[in-house]
Amino acid sequence: MSQTTAATGTPYGTLPPASPLPQRRPISLPRLAQMRAAGEKITMLTAYDATFAAVADAAGVESILVGDSLGMVCQGLPSTVGVSLDTMAYHTESVTRGLHRVQGTAWVVADLPFGSYHESREQALKSASRLMQAGAHMVKLEGGGWTAPTVQFLVERGIPVCAHLGLTPQTVHALGGYRVQGKDEQAAQQLRRHALELQDAGAAMLVLEMVPAALSASLTAELPHCHTIGIGAGKGTAGQVLVMHDMLGVNLGKNPKFVRDFMQDAGSVRGAMQAYVQAVKNGSFPDDALHAW
Ligand code: KIV
Repeated sequence: MSQTTAATGTPYGTLPPASPLPQRRPISLPRLAQMRAAGEKITMLTAYDATFAAVADAAGVESILVGDSLGMVCQGLPSTVGVSLDTMAYHTESVTRGLHRVQGTAWVVADLPFGSYHESREQALKSASRLMQAGAHMVKLEGGGWTAPTVQFLVERGIPVCAHLGLTPQTVHALGGYRVQGKDEQAAQQLRRHALELQDAGAAMLVLEMVPAALSASLTAELPHCHTIGIGAGKGTAGQVLVMHDMLGVNLGKNPKFVRDFMQDAGSVRGAMQAYVQAVKNGSFPDDALHAW
């Protein structure tokens, strides 16, 4: 007879047992707001499949981002531009299936890929609905200005939205590379205007990628209804996100300097994720000395 486990009933790829955090209630927008009000940092990690999503949940990560970074780390693409909506739906389904199997409680955010929300608000609604039906709790889209009416359209129709400003990887060609954004006064003002518009439009979360720490900290104070989640944006945000492969030290290139390899001192993937959660919560990650921009 094959070896099976009570946790999953499958002989291989055993998912971890139900979260060891029985006290944790399902993560929801009101719960995230409560955490923020209590001064507790929100942790987010990317995951793209059932097993890693279940491990991240068991490690105490509050939010899982099915990021279109999967184009690079799973598909070997040169950027996120080539990722399709079908691919995002497939990975979102995998992640949420894994979470359901372990009674996971994480808040799942799925990226709307390049070209899936640019044409019209109706196109955005159709694409977002696809990801919500795949199990996402929230969709993420990149950019400011032109995106605000789209965000409002989705939010009015019951779809929670996370915005993404600063370095927006889908527009890497227009930006001229993976560069820090919002460095000079004019760029910082534009970023601030876009962030406020997105909050007014109803965005409940905002990823700030590679922006100066002082700017993201002041934006966080100006956005009480929109939780800022930083990546390469200093420690003044309401939460932090990292690409899982980067923080496990298994990416194919050189890690950006703001990334910490949590696997180095951990005995397991779950240990590395737990160390990440702990470091974000106790303020030892990120290290602002590594955010000199
Ligand atoms: O796609 C992704 O993983 C992201 C993170 C870098 C925030 O958008």
